[in-house]
Amino acid sequence: MDIILKIRRFNPETDTESRYQDFRIEAEPDERILDVLMRIKRFQDGTLGFRKSCAHGVCGSDAMRINGKDRLACKTLVRDVAQHGEESVLIEPLRHLPVERDLIVDQTAFFERFRSVKPFLINKEPPPERERLQSPKERMAFDDATNCILCSACFSACPILEENQSFLGPAAVVQAFRFLADSRDKGFEERLPVLNASDGVWPCQNHFECTRACPRAIKITKRINETKRMIEAYQKSQSENK
Ligand code: SF4
Ligand code: FES
Repeated sequence: MDIILKIRRFNPETDTESRYQDFRIEAEPDERILDVLMRIKRFQDGTLGFRKSCAHGVCGSDAMRINGKDRLACKTLVRDVAQHGEESVLIEPLRHLPVERDLIVDQTAFFERFRSVKPFLINKEPPPERERLQSPKERMAFDDATNCILCSACFSACPILEENQSFLGPAAVVQAFRFLADSRDKGFEERLPVLNASDGVWPCQNHFECTRACPRAIKITKRINETKRMIEAYQKSQSENK
């Protein structure tokens, strides 16, 4: 079938603002949007800018907005966004991050937030002779949070970031939760200043847009709420010990 990809373009060398360009192309319903973009780049316009790497939903490079939803282009089939042919599929860069070129965004602000929560195991106690053991049940407490591929889809989907660009954002909280809930980790107090700041976990208002956008089915909103409860429990225990 014929579809039209309406792609938002921006070339920092020549454009003062973004514009939309239509590409008419034949596509199979079972093709992925990434395949269609690659054909456009190869045969219609070699200047089209987008990121991709693994092409199998693993690297997180090709997150973009497709018909207004944050998705991975390599995990989105043509038939899911254009069913009847001759349809226009809107392709735009992720929101809340500066556009570098066409569909490529600068993820610096996203990764700064990710690093700010210290996304690594913190435990200053001397390790046991073999390894720090963990039961399967303890491991399952944060299982989905280990699946993040840092694609930034949740960051783009988050309505809070529209109003408050300093909000820590969903993915950083998920990364913090992944270690806070890890029975081997002792870094709660080190992460607390970032998480408990006014722009930390608290601006989240449970819109669930991040959870809907996540290509790895991470229960993001649930994990944010669990992190809030951990902070509240810590504060309660501190005031009881005074
Ligand atoms: S939590 Fe999900 S949507 Fe957000 S960066 Fe990780 S994989 Fe992407
Ligand atoms: S190209 Fe790696 S996730 Fe899509």
